[in-house]
Amino acid sequence: MRESEPIGQMFIRLISNLCFSVFVFSVLIFTVIAITYQPPDPWLESTSALTKFFSKTENPTLEDGNSILKSGEVFRSAPSGSSITEQMIDKAEKKLKNLAVLDDSDCDELREVNCSDPRVLLAVERFNLKQFKSVLFLEYLTPVNGSKANECDVAWRFRSKRDKSWRKYKDFRRFRFEYGEDCFYRVEHASGWHSGINAKRLFRRRVNGTRSAGNTIVSKAILDDEINDTILSTGSEADFKEGKYLYYKRGGDYCKGMNHFAWSFLCGLGEAMYLKRTFVMDLSMCLAAKYNPSNQDVDGKDFRYYFDFEHLKDVASVVEEGEFLREWKKWDQKHEKKVSVKKVVSYKVKPKNLKKDNSTIIWRQFDAPSPGNFWFMVCDREAAKYIERPWHALLKSKILLNIVAEIGGRMDYEYDAIHVVRGERVKNKKLWPNLDSDTSPGALLEKLEEVVHPWTNLYIATNEPSYNYFDTLRSEYKVHLLDDYRDLWNSTSEWYHWMTRLTRGRPVEFDGYMRAIVDTEVFYRGKIRLETFNNLTKDCKDGVGYC
Ligand SMILES: *[C@@H]1O[C@H](CO)[C@@H](O)[C@H](O)[C@H]1NC(C)=O
Ligand SMILES: *[C@@H]1O[C@H](CO)[C@@H](O)[C@H](O)[C@H]1NC(C)=O
Ligand SMILES: *[C@@H]1O[C@H](CO)[C@@H](O)[C@H](O)[C@H]1NC(C)=O
Ligand SMILES: *[C@@H]1O[C@H](CO)[C@@H](O)[C@H](O)[C@H]1NC(C)=O
Ligand SMILES: *[C@@H]1O[C@H](CO)[C@@H](O)[C@H](O)[C@H]1NC(C)=O
Ligand SMILES: *[C@@H]1O[C@H](CO)[C@@H](O)[C@H](O)[C@H]1NC(C)=O
Ligand SMILES: *[C@@H]1O[C@H](CO)[C@@H](O)[C@H](O)[C@H]1NC(C)=O
Repeated sequence: MRESEPIGQMFIRLISNLCFSVFVFSVLIFTVIAITYQPPDPWLESTSALTKFFSKTENPTLEDGNSILKSGEVFRSAPSGSSITEQMIDKAEKKLKNLAVLDDSDCDELREVNCSDPRVLLAVERFNLKQFKSVLFLEYLTPVNGSKANECDVAWRFRSKRDKSWRKYKDFRRFRFEYGEDCFYRVEHASGWHSGINAKRLFRRRVNGTRSAGNTIVSKAILDDEINDTILSTGSEADFKEGKYLYYKRGGDYCKGMNHFAWSFLCGLGEAMYLKRTFVMDLSMCLAAKYNPSNQDVDGKDFRYYFDFEHLKDVASVVEEGEFLREWKKWDQKHEKKVSVKKVVSYKVKPKNLKKDNSTIIWRQFDAPSPGNFWFMVCDREAAKYIERPWHALLKSKILLNIVAEIGGRMDYEYDAIHVVRGERVKNKKLWPNLDSDTSPGALLEKLEEVVHPWTNLYIATNEPSYNYFDTLRSEYKVHLLDDYRDLWNSTSEWYHWMTRLTRGRPVEFDGYMRAIVDTEVFYRGKIRLETFNNLTKDCKDGVGYC
């Protein structure tokens, strides 16, 4: 933590006056937005659905896409890694019992809880397994003192059983102990998500060995704590010249929906892989109007807001456009022999015909009128047979998935989820005649009563703009909506910290697409899941006759 500089009192008063005006103003703006904003349907399609959609679409400007990539978390290596089991705990306890130390006596030493005692950890591991049935516990760190004598703070890494990726998330909680049988401890009380603040700092240290089930197991934990989204430099000048690049000039895809973006971007990346070239990547993005409260296209977004750039760098050869252009210019200024460039004017030039090209840079132009200026046209027709879109390269941002983990964690991963599509579609009775009534609070309650136990946590992923719309359900369920978790993206949140690092301090808005990602991912981790189409209504997702 940095200390803030001392400021004079008058200055403070000035600032607070200013803050207050800003506050009043922002409340005004917020109110206006809240009234007019219709968030997009938070639905994200599977890659195969997307492929089908785009492949069958003759007219490429037709675009429904509120959505992309099912879970965006593809298996890097299938989520494996052993989690801690009952048997491991039993075994560790037996081992301890066999050690002479525990044999002597009346367990006097238990009267004072010693957090480094392996039995403390065992008690917690046992408790957690029983308490959190939806969670896989991957590793524990050595417990530390809590705030009182009989308390310890314990930290661990976990993932939801329904997670589809290798990632691990962090939790740390505070436990109070009593002694149980046979000189072992028992957890008397456990506090909530992220309550064990003394254990939090353990994550900051790079840990080599971590403990699990009472044994010291040395594990090479994937340290996810640091997010490394740095832009890769191309290296030395000589390296630059040695490289081979595929450079796509910005085309008609800019400001189109995210489906379209993914479809086009992965075409370019796929071609680069096919040609064994480094793909030159423009990290700046334009978010289409439908994801923005202002209902206008917003420029100046960053790829890293939504996607995992670090992962992309790991699995594909990419270079950031700005960096690339600087190196290129530098080379040409310094050398007689310029960098060789092959300009490709039309998408009709097939990737196959560029395979033998020697130029350092292949530069596709996309200057034709729409739709001849879409990137994905390169991969259409015959090229579709040999260019594969590297779907595994595009994962959702870790920072957003951390928010997902946090929301799940606050509900202890014990929640059922329902996806309620409303928004524009309920107004279109022609295409969705029953959607409005089938998603009315009364109908929802009736349906839920059949499948969800009363008073369970119920997460509602929805594009219904009115927060209070679901109030009726509160009479029977603990309703959770994304907006209940606004503190996770407020200006003091971790998310905000990472975002503003990317923008060098410029404020970042938690936009509609981020909301869609988080809403969807929280939904996927629910225990019982109810979809709008199929489960709640017989209307077809794409309108009458499109089931
Ligand atoms: C706590 O337990 C650890 C491990 O069993 C032991 O090394 C340490 O001496 C104990 N501390 C106290 C104060 O008893
Ligand atoms: C933890 O608490 C015990 C007593 O409750 C104390 O003896 C020990 O020094 C404390 N350990 C640390 C690291 O503060
Ligand atoms: C981790 O292990 C390496 C070598 O095995 C060692 O040099 C380093 O000090 C260890 N770090 C910690 C925090 O234990
Ligand atoms: C971030 O990644 C780059 C290369 O991708 C690496 O050179 C750098 O050391 C990494 N930074 C940290 C803090 O791990
Ligand atoms: C391609 O590069 C190789 C070796 O660098 C060279 O021998 C060959 O002449 C080049 N071909 C063309 C068409 O420039
Ligand atoms: C953000 O949320 C946190 C956690 O609830 C809270 O402590 C903090 O004051 C909030 N910050 C702002 C600027 O609202
Ligand atoms: C929702 O519909 C899907 C597909 O028809 C079905 O597999 C699932 O069991 C349904 N869920 C519930 C809770 O009824």
